Amino acid sequence: MAVRPILTVPDPLLKQVSAPVEGVDEDLRALMDDMIETMYAAPGIGLAAVQIGVPRRVIVMDLAREGEDKQPRFFVNPEILWRSEELVSCEEGCLSIPEIYDEVERPAKVRIRYLNREGETIEEECDELYSVCIQHEMDHLEGIVFIDHLSRLKRDRAVSKVKKLVRAA
Ligand code: NI
Repeated sequence: MAVRPILTVPDPLLKQVSAPVEGVDEDLRALMDDMIETMYAAPGIGLAAVQIGVPRRVIVMDLAREGEDKQPRFFVNPEILWRSEELVSCEEGCLSIPEIYDEVERPAKVRIRYLNREGETIEEECDELYSVCIQHEMDHLEGIVFIDHLSRLKRDRAVSKVKKLVRAA
């Protein structure tokens, strides 16, 4: 396992649509292990493969609260089967857009299908933080980051702040 560098905006790779994965094998599990280690080190609660420069449809997540045992989750080729009409607004952040947080409105609940780390097909209904997080991460697979949901002004401001931050690091 290895911690990999996380790409930040405006890296053009973050705009790329990620390609489907053929199946879950040892190479893919090694990628997922690097991703979860990178996410824990950041620290963050979700990470898409494209954020470490691998444009494939893979996401890792852990929504355990502080003090709880780790609950790593792995999503391969996730699809949204259903979205609720009810919307919810939640403050989001992103490891590719450090130190920027803003409200994004999304469907409150979604039903998803994906392959887990063992390659089994799972269908689940997600609500609350799980729903927000999976929608945020699945946006990454389409080359979309959360600031793309904000006004152009806010987006441009966020990108220039991140550029400054990265230059200063
Ligand atoms: Ni993100």
